Amino acid sequence: MQKIIILDFGSQTTQLIGRRVRELDTFCEILPYDRFPADDPDVIGVILSGSPLSVYAPDAFRPDLSGIVGKYPVLGICYGAQLLSDTFGGRVESAGSREYGRANLTFLDADCPLLRGLESGAQVWMSHGDTITALPEGWRCVASTPSVRLAAFEASGAPVWGVQFHPEVVHSLQGKLLLENFVVGICGSRREWTPDSFVEKTVAELRAQLGEDEVILGLSGGVDSSVAAVLLSRAIGDRLRCIFVNHGLLRKNEFTDVLADYRSLGLHVDGVDASQRFLQDLEGVSEPERKRKIIGADFIEVFNAEAAKYSGARWLAQGTIYPDRIESCNITGKVIKSHHNVGGLPEKMKLQLCEPLKWLFKDEVRAVGLSLGMPRHMVFRHPFPGPGLAVRIPGEVTREKVAILQEVDDIFIRALRKEGLYDDIWQAGAILLPVRTVGVMGDERTYDYAVALRAVTSSDAMTADWAELPTGFLRALSNEIINRVKGVNRVCYDISSKPPSTIEWE
Ligand code: XMP
Repeated sequence: MQKIIILDFGSQTTQLIGRRVRELDTFCEILPYDRFPADDPDVIGVILSGSPLSVYAPDAFRPDLSGIVGKYPVLGICYGAQLLSDTFGGRVESAGSREYGRANLTFLDADCPLLRGLESGAQVWMSHGDTITALPEGWRCVASTPSVRLAAFEASGAPVWGVQFHPEVVHSLQGKLLLENFVVGICGSRREWTPDSFVEKTVAELRAQLGEDEVILGLSGGVDSSVAAVLLSRAIGDRLRCIFVNHGLLRKNEFTDVLADYRSLGLHVDGVDASQRFLQDLEGVSEPERKRKIIGADFIEVFNAEAAKYSGARWLAQGTIYPDRIESCNITGKVIKSHHNVGGLPEKMKLQLCEPLKWLFKDEVRAVGLSLGMPRHMVFRHPFPGPGLAVRIPGEVTREKVAILQEVDDIFIRALRKEGLYDDIWQAGAILLPVRTVGVMGDERTYDYAVALRAVTSSDAMTADWAELPTGFLRALSNEIINRVKGVNRVCYDISSKPPSTIEWE
């Protein structure tokens, strides 16, 4: 399949470039700046990302571009543009002060294939401390803003373009058109990367890869593992063995509801109810990280014991997605890599890893879920932390507290769905505060728990903002919770953003 390579020089928006290219139905890979795959016949173009560094700094990332320039169409963005210009004899200097924010293209060469269809005056987003002050011999300026004369250039002798601004961010209003001009118009993408084509291709690949083997997969109820399971089951039927562990810290009725959902999709699922064990092991523990460790260790033991039933299995499947694997560069040029799997199991059972969603961004996972015919409520389910309600009960977790929180959370989530607010929110839930406060109900004084409600908007959980839920909605919700949930007499709404807070309270 055709692909665009995005070389990462450490910019915060590199992943965003990848997502924009995918939105153009074109496959792309994000790789560290010095790992260009020289012999990949599917490459149709290269994008060089921005960077926090200066091209003239002694420790600047300066890979050899000779295997790229002249061989493929190249688009440099910000640092990428400066690097191209500097490498071929131009000049890059400090802009004096950082230029950050909106600007408008006052000059635009409408004949330049990169800028075709863009309007003069188009708003773009700048974020740079350096600027190109002279272009290499024969290269020409194709766009300017009032403060950046060389805002975009076209090279001579090779298909190379550069832009000082960031077309990948939404504030560059016609940025998507510019990227389409590059990816489709210049590189010739056939736009063959679609959810349907992904399903068809992946099912065929999984069949070839897995043959008659049995595969084990741990389901969490979340979108990624669910879509991975349905995709695998499409490929190998009930040679896929799924395990869903109830640690007793799930939402109200979640274990039975999710199991029923999975089974209605034809999945072979073993539901393991280990609630008692987890809740017992958490008794008397209030330190957040220790709670997480106990839950993690118990989970691995329960899962592994269940998986041992499938001694003939050769594979462990996981719902790992692309952002979990992208090897981003940081300012030192070192790549940061993270990878998680069910602890120890692959080695112990000599299992190989199978990760059918490893190339997808989250929104693509959802699109694939819909293409597989999964119900919307599964595909658009909010993220939920692995340790479940334990991280929403600051302090010691008890059965009584879990039961109270499940009721509050259930009322909250149902109300969001009923009012049509659920899909506008990234994640929502309730927190049972470790304090009791005084209230009055009828003629009686009460001394009960306070709960906090948390609803945030976000695109990747790295940053988040509190959701501005309607006051009338919150008022009715608070009444319903206090009237219906015994043990709660106060409801608060969390109005903290991340950073400096986090989404969860622990
Ligand atoms: P924070 O609280 O760090 O959460 O803003 C970011 C996202 O990660 C989820 N989260 C977890 N998920 N195990 C998980 O599997 C955990 O220990 C954990 N802690 C937080 C959180 O729900 C949010 O989606």
